[in-house]
Amino acid sequence: MRIAMIGTGYVGLVSGACFSEFGVHVTCVDKDADKIDRLKRGEIPIYEPGLDDLVARNVAAGRLSFTLDLKEAMQGVDAVFIAVGTPSRRGDGHADLSYVYGAAEEIARNLDHYTVIVTKSTVPVGTGREVEAIIRKTAPKAEFDIASNPEFLREGSAIGDFMRPDRVVIGATSDRAADVMRRLYRPLYLIETPIVVTSLETAELTKYAANTFLAAKITFINEIADLCEKVGANVHDVARGIGLDGRIGKKFLHPGPGYGGSCFPKDTLALVRTAQQVGSPLRIIETVVDINDKRKKQMAQRIIAACGGDVTGKTIAVLGVAFKPNTDDMRDSPSLDIVPALLAAGASVRAYDPAAMHEAEKLLPGVAWAKDAYAAIDGADCVAILTEWNEFRALDLRRIKALLKSPVMVDLRNIYNPADMAQAGFVYSSIGRPDGSAEKPTGSSAQSTL
Ligand code: UDX
Repeated sequence: MRIAMIGTGYVGLVSGACFSEFGVHVTCVDKDADKIDRLKRGEIPIYEPGLDDLVARNVAAGRLSFTLDLKEAMQGVDAVFIAVGTPSRRGDGHADLSYVYGAAEEIARNLDHYTVIVTKSTVPVGTGREVEAIIRKTAPKAEFDIASNPEFLREGSAIGDFMRPDRVVIGATSDRAADVMRRLYRPLYLIETPIVVTSLETAELTKYAANTFLAAKITFINEIADLCEKVGANVHDVARGIGLDGRIGKKFLHPGPGYGGSCFPKDTLALVRTAQQVGSPLRIIETVVDINDKRKKQMAQRIIAACGGDVTGKTIAVLGVAFKPNTDDMRDSPSLDIVPALLAAGASVRAYDPAAMHEAEKLLPGVAWAKDAYAAIDGADCVAILTEWNEFRALDLRRIKALLKSPVMVDLRNIYNPADMAQAGFVYSSIGRPDGSAEKPTGSSAQSTL
């Protein structure tokens, strides 16, 4: 089979490379000449574990190629995927669909045989129909169908998520289109992946419902964590206690500084706007958005409180600025709220991130960047962990204590055990757990449920 993938951003590049690994001939198209040149040279513009090997292997096998020319890419294809960006529109939070509609017009100008046009980007309900209308208008005689095939890829584990998904959702306007889509995903039949075939609107909404539900789940455990702190309970034990109930499920119950990233903040807001627009408001998600925004801002106060309430003239070592580990993505990262608030309160910030510093330099002016965690900590008054990179999980605590002016650690990802930290002589604060002095060192309270 043969497909064209429009957009070589995160979703397009990962999906294109993974489809080629399935044996499909994939041509990735982008308007950015520099990006296409770099991809042709084998340079991968994003950080995603395993993607460079996957791309190199499939380019060498002749199944994956890159071009600026959509006409060339669309020759003989079974399907064209639209995987362009849908950023939040400035001011109103609606998804900006200009790139999607622009792609639809270009596709229409190049349609010369039956093709399935698939939206892979996260698009509001109704976008598929709009794409259909645009194509019909530009190319009234063209033979095509529309499909929606939302992605559920997590950054940092996107390839695994594509190759071994919990499910594939396909919205299609005809059986013929659904059949093309099923054939593209044929290798997943071997691992018995459920394929959920629905209408266009249902598939579009399913994507938003999944992301907003997960955002709500995280926000729920974050609020439970705050309550735990007040009543002396341990949020990880609560998460385990509820998560073992199959109706709840144990994933996405890890408390933290609030969700960030390229999807949850944008998608929660976009669904809230859609729901308001059609007169069926999603008050639960409106609240989730509000709580999460406030939470990210409040996190700086925790750090300031741990430093005795005043950080004027103090140096805070920040470990991790990406919104999650294994990515250099800074989009809506909690660090973008926390670090400026610390600077505004009079602190100096020295930070280190294994992958995101290059991105972060532009977004966080006034921060001194260190070459590793220890260099960030050297001479600081407090260390704050903002992202749970693996390399921060096993720091040499003795060395850190010796480097810090005072042994204060604020762990916003709960990667250390309070009792162990108390024993190591740290003034340690984390999210939703009693301070270590009252607990036995058991190791259970740092369990990740991500
Ligand atoms: C998410 C969805 O998981 C994916 O299906 C969708 O297609 C795109 O959006 P991603 O944004 O890459 O993926 O990361 P994810 O691992 O879901 O984390 C999102 C945010 O939630 C991060 O800020 C993370 O730190 C936070 N999070 C996640 C928590 O705070 N607690 C959790 O238990 C899980």
